Amino acid sequence: MNLENIIKEGSRILKKNNIHSHKLDAEIIISNLMKIKKESLVTENKIDISKKIFKKYSDAIKRRSKNEPIAYIIGRKEFWSRDFVVNQSTLIPRPETELMLYKLVNFFKNKSINILDIGTGSGCILLSILKELNLARGTGIDISAKAIQIAKLNSEKLNLNHRAKFNIFNIDKFYNDKYDLIISNPPYIPMKDMKNLSKDIKNYEPLVAFNGGFDGLDLIKKVIYKSTYLLKNNGLLAIEIGNGQYLKVLSLLKKFMFREIGKEYDYKRNVRCIIGTKI
Ligand SMILES: C[S@@+](CC[C@H](N)C(=O)[O-])C[C@H]1O[C@@H](n2cnc3c(N)ncnc32)[C@H](O)[C@@H]1O
Repeated sequence: MNLENIIKEGSRILKKNNIHSHKLDAEIIISNLMKIKKESLVTENKIDISKKIFKKYSDAIKRRSKNEPIAYIIGRKEFWSRDFVVNQSTLIPRPETELMLYKLVNFFKNKSINILDIGTGSGCILLSILKELNLARGTGIDISAKAIQIAKLNSEKLNLNHRAKFNIFNIDKFYNDKYDLIISNPPYIPMKDMKNLSKDIKNYEPLVAFNGGFDGLDLIKKVIYKSTYLLKNNGLLAIEIGNGQYLKVLSLLKKFMFREIGKEYDYKRNVRCIIGTKI
């Protein structure tokens, strides 16, 4: 079978299984297996596919048919223009998380700062910031040992081992050092809404990355409380939050003597990131 036909066939199978992005997904899977750019598929479309690639492609199409996210099937996800290794122990980095980065990178440009990333997952936030801020160093912590393994792998691939450390820690038990910037994309889905998550998420992504307890604020509260000790004077705390959590998080920040200095909206005009500093 040639490239054009294999894409048509894969796309047909995915469509039959209600995968809306069927053609795109078939293209991503085959270009990944052939190690060619997706854009080159059009010019290479008469190339014959080896039996080995065909077998791998069929397996991948089967996985996608069962709603497994494409990022887990190809083993990576782009974040802040770089590829990060991901697997089922790490959340798949989301574009809304990138919203946090613009202001922070500008604010700390050319500064030699110490950063803490709470709930680091694949390490995508900390490592992306370190790539922008050459003088900075940082620590990523996560309760999941398997996620920390992946974060370390990403750090190595991006040549950041000399500036990034990753450790298994529950935020409850973390007291090390003082930081100029604390960032976190914590789990923030209220327990009652967990059942409404899409099948892709519920069946494949680590639920510990989503479950924010009764009102979704369990981890957010801990991050704010801990930051009162861990943040240096004039340091920044940046937290990603869920829809409708802004006012509650703002009042928590005030309660713990933080002042809001910035916020970021998603394309639906929901506040999705709040940045504060210690008063
Ligand atoms: C929403 S994910 C964010 C992952 C990554 N920072 C990103 O933005 O893609 C939240 C992460 O917090 C971690 N986590 C959950 N509870 C934690 C706790 N008590 N202490 C430390 N990390 C925790 C999860 O394992 C998960 O990796």
